[in-house]
Amino acid sequence: MALKIASFFSGIGGLELGLERAGCAVTFQCEAKPFCLNILQQHWPKIPRSTDIRRVKNEDVPDSDVWTAGFPCQDLSLARMGTRSGLRGSQSGLFHDFVRLLRGSLPRAVVLENVHGLLSSHGGRDFTIVLKALDELGYGLAWRVLNSKDFGVPQQRRRVFIVGVHRDAKSAGEILFEPECSDWNASTSRSNEKKSPSLFQKVVGNARKGPLVKALAHCVYAESARHTGTDWSRNYVWYPDGRVRRFTPNEVERVQGFPDNWTLPTHADEIAADRLDSLRYHAVGNAVTPQVAAWLGQRLIQVLEEPLHTVGGVKEAVEANRVAA
Ligand SMILES: C[S@@+](CC[C@H](N)C(=O)[O-])C[C@H]1O[C@@H](n2cnc3c(N)ncnc32)[C@H](O)[C@@H]1O
Repeated sequence: MALKIASFFSGIGGLELGLERAGCAVTFQCEAKPFCLNILQQHWPKIPRSTDIRRVKNEDVPDSDVWTAGFPCQDLSLARMGTRSGLRGSQSGLFHDFVRLLRGSLPRAVVLENVHGLLSSHGGRDFTIVLKALDELGYGLAWRVLNSKDFGVPQQRRRVFIVGVHRDAKSAGEILFEPECSDWNASTSRSNEKKSPSLFQKVVGNARKGPLVKALAHCVYAESARHTGTDWSRNYVWYPDGRVRRFTPNEVERVQGFPDNWTLPTHADEIAADRLDSLRYHAVGNAVTPQVAAWLGQRLIQVLEEPLHTVGGVKEAVEANRVAA
């Protein structure tokens, strides 16, 4: 049987796409934004879905081995201007609703994902609150910052992943840290492995005629510079004749490791072009890079279950749940 995944704060399903690629099966999704809900429905037409975690009851969530939560990061992100309200914020505070549900079901494992600003928000106190809440429910924990550029996509994107396994800290550590990293031998750690392939040129097009690009994109943010104060223009591409343009939505999808048009809704012609682009940029900027999630999925399966190739019926279970990408 495939490892069953219930997803909270699903966005456009970057985490689920990667976990499925590894051989897990998605059982449930929860997402509030109508645009994202539409994309989820397109890719996972048969999965039960809730639209507000504050209203979800434990009996709404099908029995699952792993619960995932990429809870909103607006109140934690370093990209945000001004003070960060952290876990007291109306958005990031939805973490507490996740904990309420967790308490009622205690799935075998949890995976949390967020911006690395979670580590420093309120001098580290918010991160402590997260760890403490999971610890009090009996989860053994491990955490690690993973950067998308180390997983074959051309983007600097550092995110903190927290894995909890109920009453089993050893498995939590084994999931996030490969055995070769646990002997304190820095020379064999992931970031010192062979250099990441430079795929950026492939993502944006013809290397001779332009556009000209750097080897690696800066992190794709959900919000524009106007909202966050970050220099979004670093992700512009330029041509030898002097023209400059922003990434297209498909290029942003590629930089994030999604298949082309993952975020193109079936009713795209009913949305004004500018509005549609901005909805797509925003959704992709919020997402987990599927390649990172696929690595995590392999680790979850390896530690919690049998490896994919020995598990019968995994592909069928996955295909039954979603249409081909
Ligand atoms: C950081 S994003 C998660 C992205 C997702 N992991 C992905 O790969 O696409 C957080 C998501 O939480 C959603 N959200 C905000 N409030 C919510 C609520 N009350 N209930 C459920 N989801 C909510 C947001 O719309 C947003 O898509």
